[in-house]
Amino acid sequence: MPETPVLYVLNGPNLNLLGVREPHIYGRETLADVQAICERAAEGATVVFRQSNREGELIDWVQEARTEASALVLNPAGYGHTSIALLDALKALTIPVVECHLSNPAAREDFRAHSYVSLAATGIVSGFGAHSYELAVQAALRLARERSARPAR
Ligand code: DQA
Repeated sequence: MPETPVLYVLNGPNLNLLGVREPHIYGRETLADVQAICERAAEGATVVFRQSNREGELIDWVQEARTEASALVLNPAGYGHTSIALLDALKALTIPVVECHLSNPAAREDFRAHSYVSLAATGIVSGFGAHSYELAVQAALRLARERSARPAR
């Protein structure tokens, strides 16, 4: 791992509308607010923060994270429930992957109870609103640091 860890924080469809989209579920913070939360929680680590409404673009960024990042935080949004292609991309990673949700999908509609992304995630943070991102960033960086401290075999 490089001296300054690089953390990718990737956000899926409709998260560009945070703050105005179903605020009773997702909160009043905007995506820019969430980015600021991530940067603060990263404590000096480099944060690459992106959002896309396109599945293929998210997959390209996951592939990029494979070689460029020390850890990945991913809120796949709706694609978590549908995308085998995103799962396949995640399976090619060896870095820690933290799946992150503002809401708690398991406590909502039945179709949200299943996440393909969870099959490739090291861990999951959900249900704490924008604070989920803070916890996810802390967990991802901790995992990355633990990995880099481990003696090579
Ligand atoms: C979400 C939960 C998903 O079920 C939903 O499709 C989203 C946002 C969340 O952050 O709570 O778009 O990932």
